[in-house]
Amino acid sequence: MTETIRLARPHFDEQEEQAVARVLRSGMLVQGPEVAAFEKETLAALGAPDDTAAVAVANGTCALELALAALDVGPGDEVIVPSVTWPSPGNAVLLRGAIPVIADVLPTTFNLDPKSVAKLLTPKTRAIIAVDQFGMPADIAGIRRVAGDIPIIEDAACAIGSTIDGASCGLQGDVGTFSFHPRKVVSTGEGGMIVSWRRELVTRLRTLRNHGQVEPGIFREAGPNERLSEMQAAIGRVQISKLREILRLRREVGEEIRAHLDLAWQQIPDRATVNHQTLGFVLPKPKSGTRRAARDALVKALREDGVEANFLSYALHRLPPFAAHAINAVRELHVSEVIVDGGMALPVHTKMSAADTARVIDVVRKHAEWALGSREVEL
Ligand SMILES: Cc1ncc(COP(=O)(O)O)c(C=O)c1O
Repeated sequence: MTETIRLARPHFDEQEEQAVARVLRSGMLVQGPEVAAFEKETLAALGAPDDTAAVAVANGTCALELALAALDVGPGDEVIVPSVTWPSPGNAVLLRGAIPVIADVLPTTFNLDPKSVAKLLTPKTRAIIAVDQFGMPADIAGIRRVAGDIPIIEDAACAIGSTIDGASCGLQGDVGTFSFHPRKVVSTGEGGMIVSWRRELVTRLRTLRNHGQVEPGIFREAGPNERLSEMQAAIGRVQISKLREILRLRREVGEEIRAHLDLAWQQIPDRATVNHQTLGFVLPKPKSGTRRAARDALVKALREDGVEANFLSYALHRLPPFAAHAINAVRELHVSEVIVDGGMALPVHTKMSAADTARVIDVVRKHAEWALGSREVEL
């Protein structure tokens, strides 16, 4: 039996192994020179302007929480978040004691809809978290136009290496956050990074991630320990040095599959380039039964045929921690629901051979012929 084609795999080789061994031999294991170098090298790889700084942290979720804390978001404040996402943006808001206000997304990019944001702004809105969903740049300029000077956190957890109007994702808002989870384009096992051009926020973030210490032994405010280890940073430095190669390999696979399957893919805006973090599309309405049932059956059929497909994402407003919230209870988020019920992800990673890519295309054609030709998300 042929080996299953995995949905995602990190791009590791002996260079990462050697980097970890180097740190272990050094005896310095926590937030030291490797972390400082990783921050600097990530900024360089992003082409960040000179006034931008980076703060490495333990993961992409605490990156969001710390960004909200640095912006002084707290109890009673409202923060707008998109519905289609991994729960982290909503959780980060709840963990600050603030209120997540859930907005709908666009059927083209699956990203926050500026018109939905405009309808949800109130005098209590203290921040907006815009996710570059699955690596697809969000329309931060459009959100900025409706939101005025309300701080925007760009959650670029999935979007390292993607660009819009020539600039890297993560650099469009007041603060940008990244994740280095194994499913991401650059991985350190667990890990995250926060970037910002706002100096006062950067100073606060550096303090907050390290027990609230301004310098050793000087504690200014209560803070968690959300530092990155030197081993993780050493892995991250190797990964960042390979970013171009990783992007090239992913694009080869992603573009080949998208070109050969006529499906309602997440659309790439003309102004953008993407890292193909996730190959996501939405099934049309089936002839009988629900979209969700058809999607689940297709995921199962592909897996049985050795292609590890998966459902695409979550609708935040349907998850228990958020559904109970009065502010969201009455809201219909139709586009989000269609994307989440009919959404699927296909394998894409750097270890896929040309034969693997061809097999994904063939297996999808075999089991989902009925869905081909559907190009746009059918609402
Ligand atoms: C949009 C988004 N934000 C935040 C996160 C959280 O990242 P981490 O797993 O590093 O905490 C994820 C992880 O999948 C994500 O997809």
